[in-house]
Amino acid sequence: MKIAYKNMDQNELPNGYFTDGDIEVYRRIISSLEAGSTIIEIGVWNGRSICSIADLINKKSINSICIDHFKGTLTVRGLHFYDENIDAQKSFEANVKRFNINPKLLVGKSLDMVNLIPDNSVDCILIDADHSREAASADIKAFLPKIKKNGIMCGHDYVRKHKGVIKAVNATGFEFELFPGSSLWSTKNFIGSGHPPLKQKA
Ligand SMILES: C[S@@+](CC[C@H](N)C(=O)[O-])C[C@H]1O[C@@H](n2cnc3c(N)ncnc32)[C@H](O)[C@@H]1O
Repeated sequence: MKIAYKNMDQNELPNGYFTDGDIEVYRRIISSLEAGSTIIEIGVWNGRSICSIADLINKKSINSICIDHFKGTLTVRGLHFYDENIDAQKSFEANVKRFNINPKLLVGKSLDMVNLIPDNSVDCILIDADHSREAASADIKAFLPKIKKNGIMCGHDYVRKHKGVIKAVNATGFEFELFPGSSLWSTKNFIGSGHPPLKQKA
């Protein structure tokens, strides 16, 4: 039988990949959104990133949508190891409950879920799923039309270790921002619908 990760102290963030620096930047991004905004996280795993903004979600009545197939990342060797003894979905569900949030969870491959999201309906999307160049590029491209005018697209792991992410983000033609002490990237000049098609460099 699969087990959920054991959870610790009531207020302790779940294990995961977001560092303190990432959390600080992500919280700044979410703090900039208006009350009632809609956000999507693609790649949630144990729920660390979404739980790190739980208080902001509640304070600002943010509508949150989380997407994951909970199979780990299979295309980048050694990355986000999938342990079949751990039920990551159960663990995620327990963690968001513990943090008193109730995101809409779409379980499946990101590209299979994208059509469930209306175009031009989301204020901020965080991409943190498959870090291969092909998959990261495909997520960026597929989810871009979902973002409202003046919305934000951001993502995790713009670092040397994840060349796929760097290449995918660089190839977009976005003007984007990086943050010292964090591996988050975020669109600089807000994009949203109406943005010209992405420049896909070779
Ligand atoms: C880096 S982890 C996410 C970490 C999380 N944001 C945190 O705060 O620790 C990547 C997650 O993306 C999921 N994933 C990878 N490829 C995916 C895909 N194509 N569609 C949906 N989920 C995917 C994996 O199952 C894994 O849970």
